Amino acid sequence: MIRDYSRLAEIVSLAERSKVTVDVGCDHGFVTEYLLRNQIADKVIATDISEKCLAKTKKLLEKKELSSKADFLQCDGLSQVHDKDIDQIIIAGMGGGTIVSILDNMSEDCKSARLILQPMNELRDVRLALCRLGYKITRDLIVRDEDKYYHILVASIGTQELTETQIYCGAVAADYASQDYQDWLAYTIQSMQNIVKDMPENNERRAKFLRAIDILKSVKN
Ligand SMILES: C[S@@+](CC[C@H](N)C(=O)[O-])C[C@H]1O[C@@H](n2cnc3c(N)ncnc32)[C@H](O)[C@@H]1O
Repeated sequence: MIRDYSRLAEIVSLAERSKVTVDVGCDHGFVTEYLLRNQIADKVIATDISEKCLAKTKKLLEKKELSSKADFLQCDGLSQVHDKDIDQIIIAGMGGGTIVSILDNMSEDCKSARLILQPMNELRDVRLALCRLGYKITRDLIVRDEDKYYHILVASIGTQELTETQIYCGAVAADYASQDYQDWLAYTIQSMQNIVKDMPENNERRAKFLRAIDILKSVKN
């Protein structure tokens, strides 16, 4: 099922062998099912704030006879998630602000786990929050799925200070080289230039946009 979706396929391809992975906002359950079926995780804690969404994961796992390897938890983020063996956390398909709030409020058991995050927006805030919380971003890539671009970040416990370019463009320069990344860059620069065109001169917002465009252009191949 997952092979039809580049976004989800990329997310699960970044997952490492794990004792306990948490799939936060599991919804359809494809990530949880994939990790268990392919024995990437011994156990998955599948959580969702919505009872209805959690029920979709439960149903899929029952159908695939994998329920015994999963825990299902209806809760907000990671605040109620406890297991000393948690070594990987996946949070995908949510706003950047929600992801930052989940990370800010996670239980102690979650704090040393490797993170795979796919925020839908507010990427700069997510990168800065990871630094503030004591993580090092090891991958910061873009994948195109149909007509949309998705950012995916991987982070582990560590320290890191980001430059302005890394905050805007991504923490890992090696990830700028991909075709999807360069296509996203060209698309973003063009969109921002279109917005700036209609802004009045000597406008503070316009100056910020122009600065951002310059930074983005600096990593264009
Ligand atoms: C767009 S779906 C993404 C599903 C899946 N993770 C993916 O990437 O395809 C977002 C899911 O996150 C859940 N969600 C939103 N806020 C949440 C929170 N604070 N804690 C847990 N789950 C949340 C929603 O109920 C929904 O099922």
